[in-house]
Amino acid sequence: MIWVDLRDRYGVTQLIFDEERTSSEMMEKAAQLGREFVIQVTGKVIERESKNPQLPTGDIEILVSELEILNASLTPPFTIENETDGGEELRMKYRYLDIRRNPVKENLMFRHQVGMKVRNYLSEEGFIEVETPYLIKSTPEGARDFVVPSRMNEGQFYALPQSPQTFKQLLMVGGMDKYFQIVKCFRDEDLRADRQPEFTQIDCEMAFVEQEDILNIFEGLTRHLLKEIKGVEIGDFPRMTYADAMKKYGNDKPDIRFGMEFSELNDLAKNKGFNVFDQQELIVGIAVPGAASYTRKRIDKLIEWVKRPQVGANGMVWAKYNEDGSLKSSVDKFYSEEDLKVWAKETGANPGDLILVMSGDADSTRTQLSALRMHLATELGLRDPKVFAPLWVVDFPLLEWDEETKRYHAMHHPFTSPKPEDIQLLATDPGKVRANAYDLVMNGNEIGGGSIRIHDKATQAMMFDYLGFTPEEAKAQFGFLMDAFQYGAPPHGGIAFGFDRLVAILGGHETIRDYIAFPKNNSGRDIMIDAPSKLDDTQLTELHLKVTE
Ligand code: AMO
Repeated sequence: MIWVDLRDRYGVTQLIFDEERTSSEMMEKAAQLGREFVIQVTGKVIERESKNPQLPTGDIEILVSELEILNASLTPPFTIENETDGGEELRMKYRYLDIRRNPVKENLMFRHQVGMKVRNYLSEEGFIEVETPYLIKSTPEGARDFVVPSRMNEGQFYALPQSPQTFKQLLMVGGMDKYFQIVKCFRDEDLRADRQPEFTQIDCEMAFVEQEDILNIFEGLTRHLLKEIKGVEIGDFPRMTYADAMKKYGNDKPDIRFGMEFSELNDLAKNKGFNVFDQQELIVGIAVPGAASYTRKRIDKLIEWVKRPQVGANGMVWAKYNEDGSLKSSVDKFYSEEDLKVWAKETGANPGDLILVMSGDADSTRTQLSALRMHLATELGLRDPKVFAPLWVVDFPLLEWDEETKRYHAMHHPFTSPKPEDIQLLATDPGKVRANAYDLVMNGNEIGGGSIRIHDKATQAMMFDYLGFTPEEAKAQFGFLMDAFQYGAPPHGGIAFGFDRLVAILGGHETIRDYIAFPKNNSGRDIMIDAPSKLDDTQLTELHLKVTE
């Protein structure tokens, strides 16, 4: 007897070839079968003698009467099983084989399901999907452009869109009023688990709206997806200002599934003779639940962790709030038990908790403690992928100072409108101006971001001026948009969700590659098709890229 597992997109069915019941010709053919052969069979569905309750088809098998081999297969370079022996590189090179594995196949089907729900929801809400071009001019979203040389226009280049930002605004001027698009965006930036050079956005724009309208509709969409796809019902999403997020979590995309909020200890820890703290701009601590029992070795490991160049801290002070109520710290010389009690109160530490304190200039110390907070939460198993904690972060600053270029950059993008009440600060204290800009954060990931836009030429021109564009540069790059604003442009605003990120988070993961059919690796390469690659001389010449002496 020969048994064969026949697999397709829908599952596995067992075939049986039995000398007594199958012709010898078919038996011979069956003996030639190998892994991953493509076959066609005719037979009779029969009850299995030994059933497999683990399989949906485990009660039956097919007694084959006819077998046709449609195509043979080489032995695959890794096993096509849920748990495979193939490494990442190998699986990427043979992605089409990887897609045959259940986890990858299911992720792609899951992505399809989320996409359908998004489309239906937005369409029901009256949004129209409009496609915008890919061969365009630079759209500044903070990354570098991928460019495409033009054969017909010597020495000129298109840029691939970092987002359809200017086009969706022009659609508002065009009267489209509610637009969406599930659309590819291209950004030449450093890659990470949650970033790909080409990725997909759920991009939206609406006319005659205020921030509140946008937040409500997209909160509605997110709530709908959580309910329909995960069966999770969530009430009103909490909101937090950017300033509070930075103060409490050191991060503009805080994971609020767990506590460990920051407590500033400047008033409590300075002027006690501990030099290190006295000189610093910020002293800030967190209480780590249940970690007072950590050994010195384990705490030293944490200190080593924050001192790694990737985190960059100079050191860390600890204080144990023991179960018996006593307190002990690494700075006992300077702080009495009474002092430490006040630290415990401030950080909300309970007996059994460990207080960790970092100090330095405010911005980097917050970033470092935020990294530690996430590291500890992962270690302590507090980042449960089945728990969903959405959060709106609002009131982002309009501008951010860039040390390298010594100028202000738009924190979201240059089309974002300042809060009317902050406009007067533009001349005196530009860094303090807040924008009508918002992000949707889920489980510590930025899922989406958007803003209410500038819709008049004068304000847009002023913004370009603050961003260091000369009027000529502004006109050359964005004249088309400013011109459009002169023809009755409605007030408008919008948002874009990172579709890959949304799907990954809903699926319980943070690596978006797992949800993309043909992703690129961390060097931006597709190792299956071997791209990017060189062009031959003819093509280079045609594109006017060949340098001839
Ligand atoms: P933003 O730049 O915030 O806004 O992008 C929106 C969302 O897209 C996702 N995202 C990415 N996902 C994967 N790989 C990347 N490289 C990548 N970059 C961004 C993130 C992010 O929140 N035009 C504005 C939107 C608007 O103002 O309406 C924009 O693109 O989840």
